[in-house]
Amino acid sequence: MELAKRPRRLRTSEGIRKLARETSLNIDDFIYPMFVVEGSGIEKEIPSMPGIMHYSVDRLLRELENVQKAGIPGVILFGIPDEKDETGTGAFLSDGIVQKALREAKKRYPELLFSADLCLCEYTSHGHCGIIKDEKIDNDLTLDILARAAVSLAEAGADIIAPSDMMDGRVGVIRKALDSQAFTDRAIMAYSVKYASSFYGPFRDAAGSTPAFGDRKTYQMDYHGRKEAMREIELDIAEGADIIMVKPALAYLDILHQAATRFDYPLAAYNVSGEYCMIKAAAQKGWIDERGAALEALTAIKRAGAQIIISYFAKDAALWLK
Ligand code: PBG
Repeated sequence: MELAKRPRRLRTSEGIRKLARETSLNIDDFIYPMFVVEGSGIEKEIPSMPGIMHYSVDRLLRELENVQKAGIPGVILFGIPDEKDETGTGAFLSDGIVQKALREAKKRYPELLFSADLCLCEYTSHGHCGIIKDEKIDNDLTLDILARAAVSLAEAGADIIAPSDMMDGRVGVIRKALDSQAFTDRAIMAYSVKYASSFYGPFRDAAGSTPAFGDRKTYQMDYHGRKEAMREIELDIAEGADIIMVKPALAYLDILHQAATRFDYPLAAYNVSGEYCMIKAAAQKGWIDERGAALEALTAIKRAGAQIIISYFAKDAALWLK
């Protein structure tokens, strides 16, 4: 048979497949999410997230050594305080849980990049990402607290502030607050496109942040839309975001692709807890090949256009990509 084009030629061997490859994962692409709790000597697996731990500050410091050795460039820290209240005070205390962790960690690991998730849901007794007034999440009251928390995280040493609350105008308010305190050098990685998603379930178990009433649909985005995502990114860029993010990742590859094509900004994707545990759980049952499925999913996220991948698989990926 005479065929002018034979695409299979480029698939004949691993050598030629590698040569023709369009997308390659690199450990430099990753940010590893970590959960910090109060106390000491704590390193406890989160039941819904196999392999992911709650660390007290002392154990976190030990684990960061492994993160650095694995070649992962940075982490994003989430705090789980002992005490929660109506207004999420713990988010902006100078000895808040993430602030304490940052102070120690920055001293010990000056080369690692530290992002701090900025949201109130881990710190409020009701589990919502904002301040409640008249039974509603009040946007503008929340902004004040977020600005204070951002400054306090920057003071503690955060290189990147990552607001994940989805209040309108928060990037601008945070930028202004940081700049007014001479933190002009700290970057904002905005969770610009954050959908109200069922894939956050395991994280909420881990953070004890399931809302006590209602849901997050009045602030997180409705997943039926794409144009709204582009509008949210535009706003965050106008307000001063340095890095934009789409979250979750796998059910939103179309959004990632469109954002990558449209905006000339570093684009992050958050491969969230539910996406992680589906693969982990199926692998534990022997139903799926963990390494194969995870690398395929992570590559898809990069192929769609993400430049930065926030993933609980980062440590595994570091081994697999060696
Ligand atoms: C805080 C926050 C959440 C996640 C990241 N930051 C939870 C939520 O919005 O309910 C989810 C991360 C994950 O599922 O891995 N607002």
